[in-house]
Amino acid sequence: MAETLDTLSLADPGLCKRVRTGRRHALRDGEFLRMLSRHFCPGPILELGASTGHLSAILREQGFDVTASEVEARLVRAIASRGLNAALVDATQDIAAQTGRTFSNILAQAVSPLIRRDRVRVLATLARIHAALEPAGRFINIAPYAWRQPAPGNFFSPKEQFEITIECGLFRSIACFPHQVLPPALYRPWNARLLNLADHKLAHLVSTRLVWIVEKIET
Ligand SMILES: C[S@@+](CC[C@H](N)C(=O)[O-])C[C@H]1O[C@@H](n2cnc3c(N)ncnc32)[C@H](O)[C@@H]1O
Repeated sequence: MAETLDTLSLADPGLCKRVRTGRRHALRDGEFLRMLSRHFCPGPILELGASTGHLSAILREQGFDVTASEVEARLVRAIASRGLNAALVDATQDIAAQTGRTFSNILAQAVSPLIRRDRVRVLATLARIHAALEPAGRFINIAPYAWRQPAPGNFFSPKEQFEITIECGLFRSIACFPHQVLPPALYRPWNARLLNLADHKLAHLVSTRLVWIVEKIET
């Protein structure tokens, strides 16, 4: 019998939780990615640390050529079960060697080696991302605040992460903006566009995450 996300989830409570979270956020993420994609370069996208591939699945529905990657084999199986291009990728190692290619865009949302308070590891990961991008390729990062983590101090703040990304000299900023005030559970098919607008406009007062798009500088 072919593996599906539901059969895999039945055998793995941790996976099940990740799938549920992705589904809860799907309407919010769909509207958000539609807006965010204005900043993408034409060409293929690699998502790093994609969990079960919930963002990549939306991007594929929106017509993008996307590969979702993870460092854990069980998550790569979950991604593949969605029929997505799936790859086992450790973002701290040579990404192009692991995927066999370079990409026009690399997307990351809360990927551990980019957010944990370990400057050397963050810089090494940024260098790997830079090397896996095509000339003038873009790195798109969605960085939630770690307020709800048991030990928020273990993570760089999104502002610190952005500063490191620019200070490393490998990328130039295209855009950086706060996003999301409203709980994703409020989203319904009929109000998603309106709430997405609110999640952008009100985020300048208070927000749960910072989003940036940077372009590769040739070194
Ligand atoms: C907080 S989760 C975020 C998952 C997903 N991006 C999302 O927003 O739902 C952090 C993810 O980073 C992944 N990760 C940890 N170390 C990694 C590495 N060295 N390379 C790539 N991904 C990694 C984990 O497996 C995990 O799925």
